[in-house]
Amino acid sequence: MSEADIKLYNPSAAAQAAAHVSGMAAYQALVDEAERDYEGYWARLAREMLAWKTPFTKVLNSDNSPFFKWFEDGTLNASYNCLDRNVERGLGDKTAIIFEADGGEVTKVTYSELLTKTSQIANGLKSLGIVKGDRVVIYISMSIDGVAAMQACARIGATHSVVFGGFSAQSLRDRIEDTGAKAVITADFQVRGGKQLALKSIVDEAIALGGCESIRNVVVVKRTGAPINMTAGRDLWMDELTAGQSTTCEPTWVEAEHPLFLLYTSGSTGKPKGVQHSTGGYLLHAALTTKWTFDLKADDVFWCTADIGWVTGHTYITYGPLALGGTEIVFEGVPTYPDAGRFWKMIQDHKVSIFYTAPTAIRSLIKAAEANDAVHPKSYDLSSLRLLGSVGEPINPAAWEWYHLHVGGGRCPIVDTFWQTETGGHMITPLPGATPLVPGSCTLPFPGIQATVVDETGKEVPWGQGGILVVKKPWPSMIRNIWGDPERFKKSYYPEDFKGQLYLAGDGAIRDAKNGYFTITGRIDDVLNVSGHRMGTMEIESALVSCTELVAEAAVVGRPDDTTGEAICAFVVLKRPLPVGDEAKAIAKQLRDHVGKEIGPIAKPKDIRFGENLPKTRSGKIMRRLLRSIAKGETITQDTSTLENPAILGQLGQNY
Ligand code: PRX
Repeated sequence: MSEADIKLYNPSAAAQAAAHVSGMAAYQALVDEAERDYEGYWARLAREMLAWKTPFTKVLNSDNSPFFKWFEDGTLNASYNCLDRNVERGLGDKTAIIFEADGGEVTKVTYSELLTKTSQIANGLKSLGIVKGDRVVIYISMSIDGVAAMQACARIGATHSVVFGGFSAQSLRDRIEDTGAKAVITADFQVRGGKQLALKSIVDEAIALGGCESIRNVVVVKRTGAPINMTAGRDLWMDELTAGQSTTCEPTWVEAEHPLFLLYTSGSTGKPKGVQHSTGGYLLHAALTTKWTFDLKADDVFWCTADIGWVTGHTYITYGPLALGGTEIVFEGVPTYPDAGRFWKMIQDHKVSIFYTAPTAIRSLIKAAEANDAVHPKSYDLSSLRLLGSVGEPINPAAWEWYHLHVGGGRCPIVDTFWQTETGGHMITPLPGATPLVPGSCTLPFPGIQATVVDETGKEVPWGQGGILVVKKPWPSMIRNIWGDPERFKKSYYPEDFKGQLYLAGDGAIRDAKNGYFTITGRIDDVLNVSGHRMGTMEIESALVSCTELVAEAAVVGRPDDTTGEAICAFVVLKRPLPVGDEAKAIAKQLRDHVGKEIGPIAKPKDIRFGENLPKTRSGKIMRRLLRSIAKGETITQDTSTLENPAILGQLGQNY
């Protein structure tokens, strides 16, 4: 970013005066406090933000680094913090969740009602023999029941693992097997864009694939009531399970380090990893970032559009806003149904004041709005908005400006929040009443987070020079382990290259030469970010080659895409002669469907290119850089003299 390109947006005087963190001096004071007394800073906040059953006396334990422990001798319960505590402080009748279904029907629950519902589910789970430490997989679409199911697990000390409803039976099976879960909580169907899509039958399919012997029960929430199969002795309706249950359930107090949840995410190699989060440290950061980054106040209506199947939905739907006693929106469906004005209409109807979404959604809604005034934000009353947020991928300055002007009316700050499944909550982000904004930059680290940019040897690089994003000190909400694979945890996040001393985020970054603002330059490993969804190229390659009757070899790369940020481009060598025309199209479709079945529709390659071989060096290494150029449609100017088979470059030019 050259200086001339920088356009600063300063917080308005009013926003600044009213904010939890008001002005850069207040931000700096927090940063300094953490610098002076790192443990004291986090301990103070952990005491202020959370209710502890047993107060902690130890703050950070680094004895077995990088397996850090925070607040380890304290006990608490996440569900108590999110529900009971709010009822006890007089918020029982306050709306906790406003749920809008795909068809537009609205259901609201108060804190008291959500507590009752959660307690009944918790008692139901207990009656199935689920106890502290057991794992429960949740495969459900967006609903109050989904949030309550997560809270219910937390209430009894069961570790939940939510699997996004778009994942296939095979992916679900892999996650069930890896967690060794005792139960799955699902729904009969999910509804998206007016269509009823199966959930329960996919659970059946997943279990039938084998390896899910740990599952004793499948609990089914009724969403549409259309017929489904129920296996006697294993499957139960949620209604029936909870009907006779007591409306109160004493929380199970757990140690701060007790695993609150596992959430699977893609890495650069192998199968998805089960990111393990703690209870105390995680909940602290969920609550604190909701308070400071979103500046959440008592009368706000907060809307995070993420799905609870992703970490954003965990932290900024199920835990953060509820821990603060906020009112939030939960929505089912897609932003483009019944039309691309759905988000704007919902903001208008529910008087949303804080809106948090992904750049992909913004980019697709820009296209729709530019084509049709009726779904342009200007056709709605968005005056209730006071703050906007962005997450999941870099937001390009043009989309930022549009979001700022047309959605935020030029008056709402945008918090561009950089973080990851592994970090539990925001890492680098503006604070709305303090940080001057620069479109396209996530600005500065959250107070207490010691992010920096280093070179390959772990040495900090000067501002203005690109490098590898790392975090110097452990922080409370960091990943604790990869479920069942501590070696992979160490290798992935605390590599030997940095002497095991730095947390490796997996992203590149550059700090602005003048003010040190961070800009994320994208993943430095083989992880793609498609519509804000994280996917490993190796996972997609494995899915393609598992189509053994057709595929001999496959290589997957990302290419830039105007709407989805990145798009998946697969290069495939078939076990049959090179197809052309309609035949090639039909095979490409077959392969996409196969990947959809293996992983889920989100992993289907947008582009498929066939070749009799892949470009390789004489030592047999696939030249991925070259594939990336081809995927982008660039003219090949690179030196191809080391290529073993230059002729195939011509074949790979055709996209199906
Ligand atoms: O590459 C970064 C990108 O998303 C990755 C994390 O993906 P996931 O674990 O699925 O979590 C997404 C929601 C937190 C990061 O490694 N990313 C996330 N937020 C941003 C971002 N890239 C640029 N700017 C962001 N604000």
